[in-house]
Amino acid sequence: MKPLIQAEHLCKSYGSLQVLQNLDFELFESEFVAITGASGSGKSTLLHLLAGLDQADSGQLRFAGAPYPTQGAALDRFRNQELGLVFQFHHLMPELTALENIVLPALIAGRSAREAEVVAHELAERLDLSERLKHRPDALSGGEQQRVAIARALINRPKVVLADEPSGNLDRARSEELYSLLAEARSTWNVSVVVVTHSDWLAARTDRRLHLQDGAWA
Ligand SMILES: Nc1ncnc2c1ncn2[C@@H]1O[C@H](COP(=O)(O)OP(=O)(O)O)[C@@H](O)[C@H]1O
Ligand SMILES: [Mg+2]
Repeated sequence: MKPLIQAEHLCKSYGSLQVLQNLDFELFESEFVAITGASGSGKSTLLHLLAGLDQADSGQLRFAGAPYPTQGAALDRFRNQELGLVFQFHHLMPELTALENIVLPALIAGRSAREAEVVAHELAERLDLSERLKHRPDALSGGEQQRVAIARALINRPKVVLADEPSGNLDRARSEELYSLLAEARSTWNVSVVVVTHSDWLAARTDRRLHLQDGAWA
């Protein structure tokens, strides 16, 4: 089977700091992979490259066999349609309701509001958000905000969800919730999941765990 994402020889430096060193990575369809590593080991940098948010200095990135688009409308479309991103601080739009946040990527993709809302309600049902859709992010708990971010990541039925877990005082309950949401997304919508996590508990439950140390696999 061919990998969905295939990264070869990725290198990334910031000034004289070499953050990723000749890194290879493969992600298969419907696979759930955890990436662990100490703070500063390059986890978020790798996730940003996989998300097309930043570019490697050298190396190759392929999606379903084709090179990643590197810029412009093709890159925007690729990110919007093939990838779902769940980043550390969720980046929800504060002035939009939960529902409006969830449907936004679908509207950007050119789908009708009506069609997008049907899918959003289905996701909200699964993610236990149905009662919270009219609220703005500041009226939601941290867990609810996370679920909104996950619903938003799934609205365009991406092939891959990339999640960067918050690292600060992460309790077990929060890890369990994130795990069950991502596992649900994988089994219900057949997405592949890459989660950057500090939780051994979570990492141990994925299909495969990788440990990053100073920008290389340990
Ligand atoms: N935009 C940037 N400019 C300069 N240095 C950066 C930048 N982003 C990350 N770094 C540095 O790269 C290293 C890896 O960062 P990061 O990928 O965020 O690590 P992790 O997510 O594993 O904690 C750190 O030393 C960090 O300070
Ligand atoms: Mg990080």
